[in-house]
Amino acid sequence: MGCSKWRAAFNFGHLKVHSKLPVFFTMIILFIYLFYCLNGYCESLPRPVYDQRSNLQTKIIFKDGQETEQLGAYNASPVSFVREQLSDLTNSDPPSNNISIANNFGSKKFPQAIIIGVKKGGTRALLEFLRIHPDVRAVGAEPHFFDRFYEKGLEWYRNLMPRTLEGQITMEKTPSYFITKEAPRRVFSMSRHTRLIVVVRDPVTRAVSDYTQTLSKSPGLPSFQNLVFRNATTGLIDTSWSAVRIGIYAKHLENWLRYFPLSRFLFVSGERLVTDPAGEMGRVQDFLGLKRVVTDKHFYFNQTKGFPCLKKPEGSSRPRCLGKSKGRPHPQIPSEVLLRLRDFYRPFNLKFYQMTGHDFGWDQMATHQSS
Ligand SMILES: *[C@@H]1O[C@H](CO)[C@@H](O)[C@H](O)[C@H]1NC(C)=O
Ligand SMILES: *[C@@H]1O[C@H](CO)[C@@H](O)[C@H](O)[C@H]1NC(C)=O
Ligand SMILES: *[C@@H]1O[C@H](CO)[C@@H](O)[C@H](O)[C@H]1NC(C)=O
Repeated sequence: MGCSKWRAAFNFGHLKVHSKLPVFFTMIILFIYLFYCLNGYCESLPRPVYDQRSNLQTKIIFKDGQETEQLGAYNASPVSFVREQLSDLTNSDPPSNNISIANNFGSKKFPQAIIIGVKKGGTRALLEFLRIHPDVRAVGAEPHFFDRFYEKGLEWYRNLMPRTLEGQITMEKTPSYFITKEAPRRVFSMSRHTRLIVVVRDPVTRAVSDYTQTLSKSPGLPSFQNLVFRNATTGLIDTSWSAVRIGIYAKHLENWLRYFPLSRFLFVSGERLVTDPAGEMGRVQDFLGLKRVVTDKHFYFNQTKGFPCLKKPEGSSRPRCLGKSKGRPHPQIPSEVLLRLRDFYRPFNLKFYQMTGHDFGWDQMATHQSS
């Protein structure tokens, strides 16, 4: 911020001789100021986000099954900080502290790319995979700026970002942006050049996975079939239930296309992220204009889990894998209920394939897919 002021002091050539002495002293003061800037005392530095993640985690479960985890960040400058829980990864250890020391250099920028959706699509995995790339710096938690904390202002948002050096991309992910009506306009007013990544997945398996997650936190939840129908006799689907609503991708995308051209989007297949993580990461890196650094040598397939995991650099703790929810107790959902839901989604899926120019193949899938 203020560090650029000193540059003006170099333009003193036109000044009269008698005023050069004060200018000389001004220069000395400015150089001392600059020295402090370089040592990181220029502004009161907020603690890096991942330092805030460890303490005071309070879980909040909302009525409609949306679940978030409030992170106690009250000891740091950004006032409160909310992150959607339920990473698709088994583990999200904070990066080593040495990285945060490096962070005192560079500057905080607005994200040039945002993972805007969707919940239970594999967004956490995608972000963690991207973070291996040396040219990507990302916020660990979900800022929820464009949906919940917009009134805190853009500077608050920028302050949450990690410091980046020249050529590095700043990123964040908040899956609820995709379904937030105001989000497209708000992101657009920050920057019309923002790149938008949407991880999508078969809406039926997504809904089941969403429900399973909520169920594991609140065991008293009504059954899936009780929630999914407005009227079970007629088979009318309840589109006001968030687990259903999120999967109507075409509707949400329409909202975004009012502000952003299709070329600004990348749609990542949540299914392919599991079957071919390196291939899908190649597309993502191309889209972001990054060198293809994250490749198949970064992944291994855990046969027991049936999901890809990330090879961690030596000395690190547990592996990070996709598909944590595999271990959760899975609700028994009658196949006719899932068939009905599949019928419901079909026209929206076809519309979505048309809009994106990509057939995600969900309508050729078996009904008995689980998360
Ligand atoms: C951080 O760097 C110091 C030396 O620069 C090293 O001794 C220490 O092991 C590093 N810590 C981690 C967690 O990598
Ligand atoms: C469901 O639909 C049937 C047939 O239209 C109707 O008779 C019934 O009252 C409805 N039930 C509810 C709970 O709305
Ligand atoms: C594979 O997954 C299983 C089950 O989660 C776990 O016990 C095992 O340690 C994993 N193996 C590797 C090599 O990550």
